[in-house]
Amino acid sequence: MNNCVTPFSLKDAPALIERLLPVQKLSVESYKEQEARQSKTLTALGSYWKGRKPLSLNKACILGCLLPATEDPARDLEIFEKLMAMDDESFVVRWKRRPRPKEILAMLSIAHIADYFTVEPEGVLPAFAPVDWSKPEYATVKVAWRADCNELERRRLEAQMLPKAPYREWVGQAQRPEEVMDTVHDHIWDAVNDHLGTSVHSFPELVEQLGIMRFGHRPRVADMFCGSGQLPFAAARLGCDVYASDLNPVACLLTWGVFNIVGGSEESRKKLAKAQLELVHRVQTEIDNLGVETDGKGWRAKVFLYCVETRCPQTGWLVPLLPTRVVSKGYRVVAELVPDPLTKRYAIQIRTGVSKAEIEAAETGTVGREGKYGEAYLIHHVAGVAYKTKLSTLRGDYQKSDGTIGNRLRPWEKLDFIPQPDDLLQERLYCIQWMRPKKKGKGEEYEFRSVTEDDLRREHVIQDYTARHLADWQRRGWVPDMRIEVGGPPRYQGLDLIRARGWTHWHHLFNPRQLLVGALVNRHSAACLTFSLTQVLNLNSRLSRFDNSEGGAAATKGAFDNQALNTLFNYGTRGIAFLRTALEQKYPSFPVDTNHMIEVHNHAADKFAKENDLYITDPPYGDAIKYEEILDFFIAWLRKNPPPEFAAWVWDSRRSLAIKGEDEDFRRSMVAAYKRMTECMSDNGIQVIMFTHQNGSIWGDMANIVWASGLQVTAAWYVATETDSALRAGSHVKGTVLLVCRKRQGALKTTRDDLAWEIQEEVEAQVQALTGLNQEAGASTATRTSSKTPTSRWRATPRRCACLPATPSLTAAT
Ligand SMILES: C[S@@+](CC[C@H](N)C(=O)[O-])C[C@H]1O[C@@H](n2cnc3c(N)ncnc32)[C@H](O)[C@@H]1O
Repeated sequence: MNNCVTPFSLKDAPALIERLLPVQKLSVESYKEQEARQSKTLTALGSYWKGRKPLSLNKACILGCLLPATEDPARDLEIFEKLMAMDDESFVVRWKRRPRPKEILAMLSIAHIADYFTVEPEGVLPAFAPVDWSKPEYATVKVAWRADCNELERRRLEAQMLPKAPYREWVGQAQRPEEVMDTVHDHIWDAVNDHLGTSVHSFPELVEQLGIMRFGHRPRVADMFCGSGQLPFAAARLGCDVYASDLNPVACLLTWGVFNIVGGSEESRKKLAKAQLELVHRVQTEIDNLGVETDGKGWRAKVFLYCVETRCPQTGWLVPLLPTRVVSKGYRVVAELVPDPLTKRYAIQIRTGVSKAEIEAAETGTVGREGKYGEAYLIHHVAGVAYKTKLSTLRGDYQKSDGTIGNRLRPWEKLDFIPQPDDLLQERLYCIQWMRPKKKGKGEEYEFRSVTEDDLRREHVIQDYTARHLADWQRRGWVPDMRIEVGGPPRYQGLDLIRARGWTHWHHLFNPRQLLVGALVNRHSAACLTFSLTQVLNLNSRLSRFDNSEGGAAATKGAFDNQALNTLFNYGTRGIAFLRTALEQKYPSFPVDTNHMIEVHNHAADKFAKENDLYITDPPYGDAIKYEEILDFFIAWLRKNPPPEFAAWVWDSRRSLAIKGEDEDFRRSMVAAYKRMTECMSDNGIQVIMFTHQNGSIWGDMANIVWASGLQVTAAWYVATETDSALRAGSHVKGTVLLVCRKRQGALKTTRDDLAWEIQEEVEAQVQALTGLNQEAGASTATRTSSKTPTSRWRATPRRCACLPATPSLTAAT
C-alpha cells in the first residue's frame, strides 16, 4: 500500500472515460435512480422539474474525466467500480441489512472461525464453519466479530453471503449508493491509493489530488445547462469547484436550493425549519380570520372539488362537466346528478359508502372522448334521450388564416379570477372533503359532503375578498399579472390554456382560494421558503387533478404531473390544513463544503468568461421538454418580487435565447454555446456532452456542432436509462448518449462525415450490446463478478474515434 502522494502528472494522460465505462452497470444504476421518483435525492426541491439526469451518471462522468486510463485497464475498471459503489463489498452496505455473525457461520465454509470471530464460551464450537445452530449445545453461544478484523475483511466475508444473482437483481434489491453515502466507501481507499498513487480517504481528497495532478489545482467543473442542479450537486459532493448556470431562473432557483437547502449546513436547516413554522402560522391565522375553511362544527376543509359547468346548446340545460362521477374509489364516494327540470340544472349530491356496482356506474360522467385525438364531448340525458355535443363545437373553434385556432370564448381580463356570469364556461364547487382529529386515538377522520348554502356563503366571502385585493396583490408582485405568451409557432401549452378556457394571464390558472394562499405565502416568503411556494403552486392550481383512485390518497396531484400544462374539467383545491406538508417540506441533508467555489449564474450558455477544466452538459434537444414555456407558471409568481438572493437573475424565460428545436437556429445556438465553453476550457480540459437519443438525424447534427465548436470526440458511450423491460425488448430503448470531447489541436485527422459515422456506429454497437446481446447484465453473479477481468462488453471499450490519442502511460513529474 502506498500512503504518500506520488507526484504523478496526469496533464496529458487520457481519461478513464476515454477508454472504458461500465455502461451496463451504469444503465442499471441510472434506471434504479430514475425509478425512485419522489424519493430521489433532489426531487423534494421541485418535483415539477422533468428530465433530471441521474446523479450516478453525473458522478460517473466527473470521475471518468478525472481518473486516468492506465496501462492496466482491468484494474482501472475495478477501482472505478469501487468509487461508484458497484463492487461486491459495497453491496454489503447497500443491502437492506447486513448479515449477523451467526448467520455467516451458518452459511459459509470458514477454515478458522477464530480468524474472524470471538466465541463465548470458548471451545464450544468446532474450529471451522458452517455451524449447525440447531444443536441444543449451541443454544447459548455468543459470537461477535473480532475487534481487530477490519471493515474490508468483514465486507469480503459478508459479500460471499450475497445471493447469486445478476447485477440488475442486486441493484433492484439494494439501496442506491447515495442512501448509504456515509459508509459505503469505507473499504476502498487503500486500493484506490495503491492504484493511483494518491494518499486519500475521501472523495474531496481524491478529487483535489487528481485535479492537481491533471490541472494543477482543484478541478473546476461547469454545467452551463444546469437545469435542476443534478450535475452541480454531484460535482460539489465529490469536492470539485462548481460553476453552474442556466438561462431559466427557475433552473437557477433549483440549483441554488441544491447548495443552500439540501447541501446547507445544520444551522441553515434549523433556520429553515423555524421560518417554515412561522409561515404556516401566518397563513393559517389569516385564513382563519376570514373563516372560509371551517364549517363551524370542528371540521376543516381538506379539499374543495370544483368542476366546469356549461349550458348544453341542444337542451338548454346547465351541465356540470365531470369526466367521471366517482369522487373517491378508496372511500367509495360518488357524485349523483339530480335533474331539476324547472331550472334546467343539476343538483349534485355526494353519496358515501356506495356499492362496487354504483362505483362502476359512476365511472361514466358527462364528458366523453372519441376519435384519434380523444376529442372531448359533453353528454347528458333528458327524458331518456342522450344529447351529445363536441366541446370544440360548443366553443365554436375555427381555424384562423394563420393556422391557429380561434373560438368564441371570452378572453379573460387581467382582473378576472372566476368566470363572468355570461361566460360559456362556468365553474362550480361540487364537493368538499372535510377532516377533523379523531375523537379517539391518533390521526384524522374524513367526510365527503355535498355543498351547502353555508359553503356557498363562504365561497362568496373568498371571492369578494379576492376581488377587493387582487389589483393590490398584483401591484406588489404577490400574485401574477403576467400574460400567457403564445407568440411564435403554435406551441401546445399556451394555446391550450387560452383555447380551452379563455385564460390569458398566469393567475387565471388559480381560483380565489388558491390565489389567496399563493399571495400569503409569496408575501411572507424568503429565499429558502420559495421552495414551499413552488410546491404549493404545483399542488394547488386549476390544473391540480384530484386523485380519486382506489389506492390514491384522495389528494390533489401536481399540475406538472406530465410534461404539458393540461387544463382539467374538474380539479381539487387544498385547504391550508392539507397544504402544511408542502409548506413544511422536509429535505434530505447532504451538506456541501462551502470553502469550495460554488457559483450559480443566470445567463445564456455562450455568455460567460470564467475558465473551467471540465464541462459536463446536458443541452436541450429537439422536441424534448419545453422548459422555456412551462416554467412561466412559476416565473409569473416570482418575477416582480423575488427574494434578494434571486433579484439579480432575469425573471423571464427569454424564449428567443432558449435553445430549442432541431433546425438551423438550434445548430447555431449550440455552436455558440459549445464554442464559448471550448474557449473557456483549460487546454487539457475535457467536455462530456449528454443528449437523449431520439432519432438518427442527431448524429450529423452533433458531429457538426462538435466540429464547429473546435472540439474533437475521443469516445462515445450509450447509457440506457429507461425501463428494464425496454432494455430487454430492444428496439425502443431510450437513453443518453455521452460524447467525450477534447479541444481540437493541430492537424485535423478526420472529416465531419467520418466523425458522424463513427459516433453513430459506436453508439449503435453499444445500444445493441445493451439490448439484444445483453447477456451479462442478466448473467449470474459469478459471471458478473468475473467482469473484474473485463470482457469487451463490460468494459465497452469504444471503437477508437479518429481523433483519440494513443494510450500514454502515467508520466512521473520531474
Ligand atoms: C435538458 S435540460 C438540463 C437538465 C439537467 N441536466 C437536469 O438534470 O436537470 C436543458 C437546460 O438548458 C436550459 N437552456 C435552454 N437554452 C439555454 C441557453 N441558451 N443557455 C443556457 N441554458 C439554456 C434550459 O433552461 C434547461 O434547464
